[in-house]
Amino acid sequence: MEIYIQKKQITSIIDGLKLKGDTIGMVPTMGALHQGHLQLVKKALAENNKVIVSIFVNPTQFNSNEDLTNYPRTLEQDINLLKTVSATNILVYAPTVDDIYKGNTVSEKFDFDGLEHEMEGKFRDGHFNGVGTIVKRFFEIIKPHNAYFGEKDFQQLAIIKKLVEIHKLTVNIVGCEIHRETNGLAMSSRNTRLKTAHKNTAPFIYKTLKTAKEKFGTKSVTNITEWVEKQFANNKLFELEYFIIADTTTLKPAKRKSNKKAYRAFIAVYADDIRLIDNIALN
Ligand code: PAF
Repeated sequence: MEIYIQKKQITSIIDGLKLKGDTIGMVPTMGALHQGHLQLVKKALAENNKVIVSIFVNPTQFNSNEDLTNYPRTLEQDINLLKTVSATNILVYAPTVDDIYKGNTVSEKFDFDGLEHEMEGKFRDGHFNGVGTIVKRFFEIIKPHNAYFGEKDFQQLAIIKKLVEIHKLTVNIVGCEIHRETNGLAMSSRNTRLKTAHKNTAPFIYKTLKTAKEKFGTKSVTNITEWVEKQFANNKLFELEYFIIADTTTLKPAKRKSNKKAYRAFIAVYADDIRLIDNIALN
């Protein structure tokens, strides 16, 4: 498996592949790969000749230095995992912070038509500017035909689609279903840091989302929200940061239900200092 650190190396390889007529898929990641990432990679391999997996812990999208420092970095393990999927058609791009940011580790400022101010945007100041900066840079370097992102970060996916639209980038963005552990916990690189007690109880998050979905047929948004808040008030292991039912297109919180709109429930929860997010389509 080829691993590239420098921008100029990977761009010359990709130019060669494109000249041969290969289609290029990209799966941007921050490493600590799990089965959820592998599903994205497998889908990308099925739809493209070559797949670039970027592994880069992007400093500008972290809100706390502690979270950035604690973020798992497992490059060797990640490469071994990718080899189990394909040793020949996957190329790893693992740049250094300096190669990407050239000594100026700051975000560009974006306007994503308000999508950035909802949910995660309220709790993670500047996070989406950091995501927008790195994803735009990757798209400029790799120029993939298709790029794959998981729906676990549904707001991020919506923002990346908006980034592509606003900056008229030529990449096609493919959203992929949430991949879950058998107990329902949405797969995340942060799950490896969960204590056993949290791991064992974490299915409670998805179970609550599924019940919220069931209730959505008959109950009001306020009623469901209050019910979810009560479930978490009675649970000593998890602290609810938000539960929001939002319009899937604007991501604005729904006040009343309209049968012309699609809705999703979004949740952010703390297990000690580990922040978990999840979401579910409601209709
Ligand atoms: O979802 C992630 O892992 C990151 O936010 C991304 C898209 C790789 C950008 O750093």
